Amino acid sequence: MAQAWLQAASDGQWVARALTDADSCPSLRWRGGSVAMSTRSQPAVIAARMGGVQADVKPAEFAQRSCEVAVPAGARDLHIGSVHLPPPPAQIERIVLVGDTGCRMKQSDNAFQDCNDPARWPFAAIARSAALLKPDLVIHVGDLHYRESPCPPGRPGCAGSPWGYGLDTWEADFLRPAAPLLTAAPWLFVRGNHESCSRAGVGWHRLFDSRGWAQNLSCEDPKQDRDGDFTEPYALPISADTQIIVFDSSFAAGRAYSQQDTVFKRYLLQLARVEQLAAAKRHSIFLNHHPVLGFAGSHSGAPKPGNAGLMSVMQAAAPTRLYAQGIDLVLNGHVHLFEALGFATSHPATVVLGNSGSAMEGFIAEAAALRAQPAPGAVVQSFATHSGFGFASLDRRPTGWSLTAWSVDGQALRRCDIEGQRLHCGP
Ligand SMILES: [Fe+2]
Repeated sequence: MAQAWLQAASDGQWVARALTDADSCPSLRWRGGSVAMSTRSQPAVIAARMGGVQADVKPAEFAQRSCEVAVPAGARDLHIGSVHLPPPPAQIERIVLVGDTGCRMKQSDNAFQDCNDPARWPFAAIARSAALLKPDLVIHVGDLHYRESPCPPGRPGCAGSPWGYGLDTWEADFLRPAAPLLTAAPWLFVRGNHESCSRAGVGWHRLFDSRGWAQNLSCEDPKQDRDGDFTEPYALPISADTQIIVFDSSFAAGRAYSQQDTVFKRYLLQLARVEQLAAAKRHSIFLNHHPVLGFAGSHSGAPKPGNAGLMSVMQAAAPTRLYAQGIDLVLNGHVHLFEALGFATSHPATVVLGNSGSAMEGFIAEAAALRAQPAPGAVVQSFATHSGFGFASLDRRPTGWSLTAWSVDGQALRRCDIEGQRLHCGP
């Protein structure tokens, strides 16, 4: 057994997943019962896509069988092979957030991170530190896979690394370094732009997609990308009055859409579905990869606005507050730093967490952020950021959540209180 984990599924339930070299899937065992896992995807070699952004491409090989089974409600003391998996609790008290975890190897940007140096690519240490917090749930806000191109000759920092979209790269970039955290709690995976069909989407659907296997969603045939690049929004209850709503923005463009654009129309329908989902609970936490109410950083510290494509759809769906009523907290990744934003206007509190391994890309000056608006009319009241590597956590409080930004080695750096849509950070 190579790896096993639990994750949230798009039907609001929990599913166990595993990878195996064997010809059949293992069983999920618990105190008093067991069930055979089903094959999600057979070992396969998926042809390389031609004409893409990267000069070097190769077929994506998945040498292992991917297995899954729904976790029976109330099952305790879960095992797959020798791997022990904590069961999903009925009420989530502590959430760990990680994002943008992979090690960048990207020929088109001539960007090659030192994946072999734990100080320059610290995701393994972050996973160890985060596991010590004993979370009830781990949320990955997207961009798991970064090793798209071969390490150039003469660069010892990444020499010998696997690359491309096959399982060997997923092992090096995510599965092996994540292992202590992968078995510490159930996970919820948000899809990033790196997991779109034209990039690592094939592995995304085999390994971490919240939905059941479907060939048209598998990203294996580019002619089916109009299916594979989108996921219908879904909700996951985490307590009696709170739910998480997951939105797939992986395909979102960086420029505003025209209202005739088929992608605009598709996202608009999905946001109408989000509004329906949000009506089911008093509090909703909205998860998607690209910030809209969060800033992008820069090398001067000047804050830049969020994703223009998504913003153009959200302005049509909810012109004043951008998000449906009931959504009081938004969690994003994509920008490689930590930021927390509370608004004087009706906008939901927003947390951006994209600093869990991939190379840093600038910072945000706090004074400038307090004078700027990430979206028209969104007045920032409280702002906290840090631009080093790390992760974050959310702890349930009687009136909301306590947000903590952590360093790689588990030192608390910033604390913020979240109450409804209000967020305020201490020094
Ligand atoms: Fe991203």
